[in-house]
Amino acid sequence: MSKVTVVGAGNVGATVANVLAHKDIVKDIVLLDIKGDFAKGKALDSWQQAPIDGYSSRMTGTSDYADTAGSDVVIITAGIPRKPGMSRDDLISTNAKIVVSVTKSILKYSKNPIIIIVSNPLDVMSYAALKASKLAPNRVFGMAGILDTARYRAFLATELDVSPRDISAVLMGGHGDTMVPLPRYTTVAGIPVTEMITKGKLNKIVERTKKGGGELVKLMGTSAWYAPGAAAAQMVESIIKDDGRIFPVSAWLTGEYGVKNMYLGVPVQLGKDGIRKIIKLKLNSEEKKGLKTSVKAVSSVISDFKKMKLV
Ligand code: NAI
Ligand code: 2OP
Repeated sequence: MSKVTVVGAGNVGATVANVLAHKDIVKDIVLLDIKGDFAKGKALDSWQQAPIDGYSSRMTGTSDYADTAGSDVVIITAGIPRKPGMSRDDLISTNAKIVVSVTKSILKYSKNPIIIIVSNPLDVMSYAALKASKLAPNRVFGMAGILDTARYRAFLATELDVSPRDISAVLMGGHGDTMVPLPRYTTVAGIPVTEMITKGKLNKIVERTKKGGGELVKLMGTSAWYAPGAAAAQMVESIIKDDGRIFPVSAWLTGEYGVKNMYLGVPVQLGKDGIRKIIKLKLNSEEKKGLKTSVKAVSSVISDFKKMKLV
């Protein structure tokens, strides 16, 4: 794989491209934005960082889709972020149009790319990109779970005073306040987290994780970008290395977990063709209940998207 395009050169898009460049595993990184020379400036700045940090990935900026031709992986971050008081779902009327038009433009120049969606509302924008692209569902999926578990892992690391690297976790459901962190599947260097923290403290961390995006919006007046950018770049790395890593990803479900024809966060194994397989966990009744609530929330926003008749 030699070419990766990032659409949207804003906070998240520019970070994805910059983190990816530092990994030095891609020959060409194209940063595209609708705003004139904005992407060109961001890409030039990143390229001028290369002699200092020592990477060779060549980054260029553009507003012309012809420059994205032959992309192996495309990350779509185009769209508006939320402001304080907004939910991710409030973004649909603007972002659905953007994601559908960006997806169609990408497909004019790249025949069979893998598309990673970042724009919100995440699970529904993944649905929009699948329908607009008509690609195989294993090649279209969304980034959310790596970010949400990273927040959960970071909160746990602070509470337990351990390295976040030693915390392994999985989380399911939509990228919204109904997401379902799974303490039963959380370990600290192999030790079940439930043996290291009281139930009360763990519950507080789970609740803070669910509202983790909103916490940052309140602090900054816009949504986060460092962790989201790093999360999307980690997915690209795993695809390029074809290393079979397992991450929570918003994936197209066809009956797994009793869910059909929609995107939802589930653990998947990534590889060179995108999603190699969806991992099926045994959920207890409380976890199933949480997932059901999440399915309802995402389904209702998918219905809103369908009413827009964009695809
Ligand atoms: P931003 O406003 O900093 O950047 C968005 C960029 O998209 C802007 O530069 C804008 O010019 C560009 N854009 C708008 N329409 C476009 C089009 N038609 N074609 C190409 N570029 C276009 O916003 P930020 O913070 O980078 O967030 C981007 C999106 O990512 C938002 O929808 C946000 O909610 C979402 N997000 C999702 C996360 C996740 O976990 N999935 C995490 C963080 C943000
Ligand atoms: C986040 O969780 C806004 O979805 C974005 O930070």
